[in-house]
Amino acid sequence: MTNLQTAVADAQPTSYDRTPYKSYPFCQTHPDRLATIASLFGLMPAPVHRCRVLELGCASGGNLIPMAEQFPDGTFLGIDSSIRQVGDGLRLVESLGLGNIELRHEDIVAFPVKGQEFDYIICHGVFSWVSDEVQRRILEICRKCLAPAGIAYVSYNTYPGWHMRGMIRDIMRYRARSFETPESQLAQARGLLAFLSNSVRTENNPYGILLKNELESIGRSGRRSSAAGKPSSNGPPGPRPC
Ligand SMILES: C[S@@+](CC[C@H](N)C(=O)[O-])C[C@H]1O[C@@H](n2cnc3c(N)ncnc32)[C@H](O)[C@@H]1O
Repeated sequence: MTNLQTAVADAQPTSYDRTPYKSYPFCQTHPDRLATIASLFGLMPAPVHRCRVLELGCASGGNLIPMAEQFPDGTFLGIDSSIRQVGDGLRLVESLGLGNIELRHEDIVAFPVKGQEFDYIICHGVFSWVSDEVQRRILEICRKCLAPAGIAYVSYNTYPGWHMRGMIRDIMRYRARSFETPESQLAQARGLLAFLSNSVRTENNPYGILLKNELESIGRSGRRSSAAGKPSSNGPPGPRPC
């Protein structure tokens, strides 16, 4: 048995194992973008072509793998608690023959904060959906594992803008709660959104446009759905709006 096969046998499945995420690049997290913004703010970020990057909650590496391919002199580590997604990512890494990237099945809470230093730490689409404990650990990892000129990118949902998406999420969760499996919850929640979107005009109607855009966005991105996501224990998206 390989290490991954042994780990698969031992791992407790997460909701992301049952319903994996489609993992894409996010240009706003790219070290080149982060370094440019940091420079504009007077910082001296590490050279991008040999950067050391950590991604927390990397799913199957859709964001990190292209960076590793682009910067052969950089080193890239991604961790995620979904062994299925990590396994998918590892297969892609192997097929591309990349030697500068490691994807690890590891919980953020268990990530060792000593003896590792990174120039860029990325955590996209995670912070608002995890427990307070995991949120605290994300910030601790940024505090303790960033190089002196390092940059952390942590995305999160916040108000007032997130009220718009929160409404869609409430609609979908309302529908999903009557069904058992993640697959049927997702299908039913999407179905209700499609029904609403088809029932509301879009001409001169921001609500109709919102429904249509969200439906399209969810259709493009597989699991990415307000109904499938689990909120942080804060209830509303965290950190709390001020
Ligand atoms: C909403 S997805 C976002 C994936 C990707 N970063 C993106 O933006 O598309 C959240 C990811 O975080 C992972 N995750 C959630 N809690 C985690 C934890 N405690 N430790 C490690 N990964 C975690 C999930 O397995 C999932 O892949």
